[in-house]
Amino acid sequence: MLQNSSNYKSTIGILTSGGDCPGLNAAIRAIVKPAVNKYDMKVFGILDGFRGLVENRTIDLTDASVSGILTMGGTVLGTSRDKPTKMSMGGEKMDMTPVILENIKKMGLDCLVCLGGGGTQKNAFHLYKNGGVNVLTLPKTIDNDIAKTDITFGFDTAMQIATEAIDRLHSTASSHQRVMVCEVMGHKAGWLALGAGIAGGADVILIPEIPYTMDAIAKTITERRKRGKRFSIVVVAEGAVSQQEVSMEYEEKETKKKELLKKLKKADLPVIEEPLSNRIARKIEKLTGLETRVTTLGHIQRGGVPSAADRLLATQLGAAAARFLAEKKYNVMVGIQNRKAVAVNIEEVAGMKKLVSPNDPLVLTVRSSGASMGDC
Ligand code: F6P
Repeated sequence: MLQNSSNYKSTIGILTSGGDCPGLNAAIRAIVKPAVNKYDMKVFGILDGFRGLVENRTIDLTDASVSGILTMGGTVLGTSRDKPTKMSMGGEKMDMTPVILENIKKMGLDCLVCLGGGGTQKNAFHLYKNGGVNVLTLPKTIDNDIAKTDITFGFDTAMQIATEAIDRLHSTASSHQRVMVCEVMGHKAGWLALGAGIAGGADVILIPEIPYTMDAIAKTITERRKRGKRFSIVVVAEGAVSQQEVSMEYEEKETKKKELLKKLKKADLPVIEEPLSNRIARKIEKLTGLETRVTTLGHIQRGGVPSAADRLLATQLGAAAARFLAEKKYNVMVGIQNRKAVAVNIEEVAGMKKLVSPNDPLVLTVRSSGASMGDC
């Protein structure tokens, strides 16, 4: 598909990749409006992430086509978790980088704009490093785990949804004198659990960065009960790990377990693994004797309209991205630092993760409020 883009100052393609999140459409709109109205750019919207780039599926993005999308959740471009280097093609994983490079050339792109999380930053870096493609990225994810940006868009909305869920769990927990275990997303980072846990007044918050022990969790809950508290709320990040799990011995056991699972899978036998929060709830019941229930929030945290804070952030980053594109400032991620949109070299971001430090002010806040991080 050869496009004639000679009348434009430059041509860009925008794609959204990885898990969707609220704020993506606000960011697309904030890039497209100045790009077409102020900077005279031709803008392609590439559908369904890097797969759309392989399959040449694009739309024209114009002022009219981004009108009214500011408040919409998800992404109007569609997304996928496809990686250029390992794309599933007819059941086989293939390196589609050469096809992507060819299509970018045919479209006459001066820059490929990728809106995504950690995986997307790496994929964009790959196309720049190994294919010589000019890239510009924006940090989106509910996990808030991208390096060199104070915050990512999508995070605030997800934290609000999780907080509301924890609020609702309080009343039913109190009525029944129960322990409520609430599992939130966040991949390998604890930002979402920590934020929603504090805002929702959780009694125990478990995050991947601070391994827990069941004894410490049970102690907090039992002591609360002794003080006459009718309920306890335990917020669990999906990536939380126990102190036992990070020990060497455990790793050896896990390796053996994985080998066994592989054999079962090969033999086409069902593999049923107990979800993390169920495991924790079962152990809480055993150690405290208190009735315990589990709520897993899942993809509800990624759906629906973006919060005002996410709309603001996505719009600020999108507007800055358009400016950098006009200045031909490529191969950068547009992040936010001290309220300012900044261009960070993509190599400083790709493959890096921003995790919760055990001394993070929010962790210290939990501890000083008398709640527990499950480690002591
Ligand atoms: O990265 C965002 C995220 O929602 C993580 O918190 C979660 O682990 C993962 O995506 C879920 O991915 P999927 O939507 O592919 O199931």
